[in-house]
Amino acid sequence: MKYIIANWKMHSNYAFVQDWGQTFVNALTSQKVEVIKNAAQIIISPPFPYIHDLMSATADQSESIILCAQNVSHHTGAGAYTGEVSAEMLKDIGCQYVLVGHSERRAMGDNDLLEQKLKNVLEADLIPVFCVGEPLEEREAGRAWDFIANQLSLLKNIDPAQQLLIAYEPIWAIGTGQTANLEDIEEMHTQIKAAYNWPVLYGGSVKSSNAGKLLASSVIDGALVGGASLKPDEFLSIVEAAS
Ligand code: 13P
Repeated sequence: MKYIIANWKMHSNYAFVQDWGQTFVNALTSQKVEVIKNAAQIIISPPFPYIHDLMSATADQSESIILCAQNVSHHTGAGAYTGEVSAEMLKDIGCQYVLVGHSERRAMGDNDLLEQKLKNVLEADLIPVFCVGEPLEEREAGRAWDFIANQLSLLKNIDPAQQLLIAYEPIWAIGTGQTANLEDIEEMHTQIKAAYNWPVLYGGSVKSSNAGKLLASSVIDGALVGGASLKPDEFLSIVEAAS
């Protein structure tokens, strides 16, 4: 079973969600839903305001689609935190997963908040998708694994029985069209898996034309898809590549 996550980032509007949901549900229905469901967990991560709209737009296939939030507050409980969205709220509206540590959020200052975010997500009984990835200079200097191992160290006190996904997304491969080469990805995933027992997904310019090769690898447990997930047919082709 592979995990295929669509990360819409800060894209979409109401019309987009209706259109995406309808096209996706039609395509899913016309293909063998059971075969696809057995091969892949389809997880969609829209911006906060559209999570419910996507639920409604995909209600016909609601069992095939799992919701993920792109972010969560580091604050706990409820309180005077204008603009923040708590883990409990995400649980309450039906999310099952939350992205934590995406490089785009780390670049916005999230690094110091990640430990607390992980705690909040786990305490709310949600599943973190913990994202790691090295910048190009670290890879070129031969320090990619050290960099990733350091980012992963936040997971070391988490009970291995806890459900969690790790997403390896080399920063230089995100949104650039430049996928990391398969041997480098496999080497990194093997190292991560030797240290942690959770599934490891790859992200960074995944599209239908390279998904088959990537997802055929036994050490790549799924894909975290950005740009290509905005086109439902393209995204479904990636899901199909998992089967
Ligand atoms: P792209 O697929 O657009 O490279 O984005 C990857 C990503 O950051 C998914 O979280």
